[in-house]
Amino acid sequence: MASSIAEGFELTFSGIRPGEFETVSDLIRSCGLHTDDLTGEMCRDFIVARSEGTIVGVVGLERKGSHALLRSLAVAESFRGAGVGSRLLEAVERYALSQGVSRLHLLTLTAKRFFARHGFGTAERGRQPASIRNTAEFRTLCPETAVCMTKDVAPPPGS
Ligand SMILES: CC(C)(COP(=O)(O)OP(=O)(O)OC[C@H]1O[C@@H](n2cnc3c(N)ncnc32)[C@H](O)[C@@H]1OP(=O)(O)O)[C@@H](O)C(=O)NCCC(=O)NCCS
Repeated sequence: MASSIAEGFELTFSGIRPGEFETVSDLIRSCGLHTDDLTGEMCRDFIVARSEGTIVGVVGLERKGSHALLRSLAVAESFRGAGVGSRLLEAVERYALSQGVSRLHLLTLTAKRFFARHGFGTAERGRQPASIRNTAEFRTLCPETAVCMTKDVAPPPGS
């Protein structure tokens, strides 16, 4: 995947490599997010951002046909505010498109404004497709107070 410079440091984006599952899980938990249902297989649809070889951010998809749950967007605290989260979001949207996903869904307790700035709109949790409502995150792991948001993913203009 591509490289880009975020606020002076070079970022590389890739999938999770063999042996990195625990590192990624630790990062997600250290950012206050759950990993209760996370499996190695699920991580095939995860993207990590690296700076000088160290994983500094992660984001994942749980794909359900043309819909997907966007989950586990987490950036190491010392790398926040430098565009890593935004670039991960762009990368996962491109990946979603490449996999035939046309609509993303998420639940968030803390980052509603962040996602709204990236084109996500609030939605009714109970009105999401059954495949999304049946994910562990929707069923049990995210409290009712979490905000549900969705976004249609489309190719960038001119592509
Ligand atoms: C949300 C998160 C991924 C953003 O990562 P990041 O690398 O700091 O994001 P960026 O640098 O691309 O964007 C930062 C901008 O978003 C804003 N922002 C970051 N987190 C935010 C939040 N929770 N709510 C509102 N705005 C937020 C910052 O203020 C900053 O705004 P600015 O550009 O005007 O200064 C990171 O804060 C994080 O890991 N949070 C903990 C885990 C989490 O809540 N994940 C989302 C739920 S799945």
